Amino acid sequence: MDWKTLIEDNFELFVSELKEFLKIPSVSADPRFRDDVFECADWLIKALKEAGADKVELIPTERYPLVYAEKNVDDNAPTIWIYGHYDVQPPDPLDQWTTPPFEPHIRDGAIYARGASDDKGQLFIYVKALELLNETGQLKYNLRFLIEGEEEIGSPNLEKYIQNNYESMKGEMVLVSDTALPGPDKPGITVSLRGICYFEVSAYGPSHDLHSGTYGGAVQNPVHALAHLIIALRDPITGRIMIPGFYDDVEELSPQERDLVRQGSWNNDEIKASLNVDTLVSEAGFSPFESATIRPSMDVNGIWGGYIGEGSKTIIPAEAHAKISFRLVANQSWQKINEEFKKFVEDFKVPGIRFEVKTFHGGDPVKTPLDFWGYVKASEAMEKVFGKKPIPVYTGGSIPVLATWQRKTGMHPILMGFGLESDRIHAPDEHFRLDLFRKGIETVCEMLSS
Ligand code: BES
Ligand code: ZN
Repeated sequence: MDWKTLIEDNFELFVSELKEFLKIPSVSADPRFRDDVFECADWLIKALKEAGADKVELIPTERYPLVYAEKNVDDNAPTIWIYGHYDVQPPDPLDQWTTPPFEPHIRDGAIYARGASDDKGQLFIYVKALELLNETGQLKYNLRFLIEGEEEIGSPNLEKYIQNNYESMKGEMVLVSDTALPGPDKPGITVSLRGICYFEVSAYGPSHDLHSGTYGGAVQNPVHALAHLIIALRDPITGRIMIPGFYDDVEELSPQERDLVRQGSWNNDEIKASLNVDTLVSEAGFSPFESATIRPSMDVNGIWGGYIGEGSKTIIPAEAHAKISFRLVANQSWQKINEEFKKFVEDFKVPGIRFEVKTFHGGDPVKTPLDFWGYVKASEAMEKVFGKKPIPVYTGGSIPVLATWQRKTGMHPILMGFGLESDRIHAPDEHFRLDLFRKGIETVCEMLSS
């Protein structure tokens, strides 16, 4: 029996198993889901054991455990690491889901649930590939699974784990499916991920909320001050970030590499229609796609302060807050941006206001060289399954721990994602197409059996 026949016979069973994985609300950001995150790690341990791993281990950390598994076939065979995450983003706003986030439903050929695409569905591909190749004796590599439950909160403990254990992490590459294809019939392998640096900035004014009639005009308003700070961070004409030194290390791509990037470019009209916006923006000299992939960016992810309840209330609020993040590109360092941003806020003086900055997490950008044998291998496997040669994909998202992993162990990441940008990851109605789930299993089996 070969793995192709087994997929044919068992695909429906695989989907029902994936449903069980998706039912566990492993939301890492919200402590109310703590027990569920642990339960999810246990579920994965059991699934990997059943799939035939030789050694499966729960590695406790300060917060959520790592799941480690090994499969050894031959001491002389190359070793491939597999990374993924079993945690998911918070599901809210709940009322915008067509079916509840932790009750997986299948419609229009896709499975709908939080984590379907990011990343449980894509991670489960590897559990099934292990099972199939183990059953058929077709596995050609030694495998090491290292799966975390904190990716969506910046991977603090996997980062520490790698810093402490990299010397014993021997292998050729890190295989990851946590990104998107350029299209359902357009295969691609991600070769560039942006880095990230995430902050919360607070502005403090008077010691308590004030009547805006009594004091309005005479006391500085923290919401205004925070708005000024945010506006000052980016030039409205060029779209460039105004933090001194911010662009110093930014890699300028060669014209050849920019051509490669362009191969994966958006059809702007399609993107506008799908997002329901009438304009896309960009940094001067770059297309919207380039601005979202090979150039750094800044976003306010949330902002609050003062009265936000029903009706009106006339106050000068005592404080205001914003969550602000920067996406970084090669060769920027998030540690350096962290310092530069803090300095920017420190130097931004508004009389009567005290600003405070808290850094949440950060991660450096990563790139995979196209001539690396692992890329070539992945490309061949994808071509067999999709019938077309994959293009290199430059993406704007981040998987923060991979830069450290690459730097410390010398292993390049192979980002063979099977999601789509339209999967609504991090949003209501997240879904994963079942034909791509299946092609994912086929591609990984193809790659690991030859
Ligand atoms: N799967 C995503 C990364 C991703 C997003 C890749 C879009 C390609 C396109 C991952 O789970 C993720 O969301 N990462 C976070 C990291 C952050 C929380 C530190 C991100 O990019 O926001
Ligand atoms: Zn995510």
